[in-house]
Amino acid sequence: KYTDCEGNTVSLTELNGVPFNRLFAGLQETVENPDHFEAREDDIWVVNWPKSGTHWLWEIIMMLTSDKPQLSSRVKEECMFELRPGHALETMPSPRVLNTHVPHQFFPKQALAKSKVLYSVRHPKDAAISMYYHTRNIEDYSYLGTWNGFFSLFMENKVDCGSWFDHVEKWLEVVENHSNVQIVKFEDLKEDLTGEIKRVAEFIGYPKSDEFYAEVAKQCSFENMKKHKTELLSGWRPESDGMYRKGKVGGWRGVFTVHQNETFNSEYEKRAKNFKIDLGYTD
Ligand code: A3P
Repeated sequence: KYTDCEGNTVSLTELNGVPFNRLFAGLQETVENPDHFEAREDDIWVVNWPKSGTHWLWEIIMMLTSDKPQLSSRVKEECMFELRPGHALETMPSPRVLNTHVPHQFFPKQALAKSKVLYSVRHPKDAAISMYYHTRNIEDYSYLGTWNGFFSLFMENKVDCGSWFDHVEKWLEVVENHSNVQIVKFEDLKEDLTGEIKRVAEFIGYPKSDEFYAEVAKQCSFENMKKHKTELLSGWRPESDGMYRKGKVGGWRGVFTVHQNETFNSEYEKRAKNFKIDLGYTD
């Protein structure tokens, strides 16, 4: 348990120094033996610090790897590395569309060597706010704090999956050094969804027609996903908006106080110097 600056606690467990949701039981095995996971060449991974577009990108790839541009009747949690301990993923038919939030030191080595990986990233201020609602509204964290309290936890890296800065810094290095790993920005999906869908399709080796891309974009609009996918997710407080909260870019402007913004910017300035790829998050 960690305590925020206002005295509210959050339930997390630590694995090799990184805080995680205690449901991520599958990770223990990886930490003990990072090579246990048998990767396949046709596996496709969505990797990110949480709240950076996992559900969105997973759904896009599920459609691209199938013949029909229709939302999947499954949820990405069924294909989530840290939620599927033991050999649960081994029996899944190819192509597996897997996903994980783990920092790169916990990611299976074989997968980096032979599978396709998409690392998605979102403006950290928007991701932090989304993570606040995630932590506040998923009952398992037992967190009843305010945004101000959560901001203190975020800046101290006492949130699920640990430091945004560490996660992104290391993974950008991986993107830079591996041709099988590419970056997808949440903001680019918002700006040119069809164009990004096409780019992803070509990268993962599932090119389709322009009509198909347009239909995928229609299916995975925020409204359509909220309408069809919300009830498939469990664990959220019933009175909350759930996973599909706002789906916007720049919402942080109405939430961060001037002081929080200064604190954040000064940390970002220090850390972003070491990023191998310029993310363009200048404000
Ligand atoms: P908000 O909390 O800002 O609304 P993840 O899937 O990684 O957990 O990320 C969840 C965030 O992505 C939430 O952000 C959610 O609303 C947003 N999101 C999910 N599907 C989306 C879509 N189709 N279009 C835009 N945003 C989407």
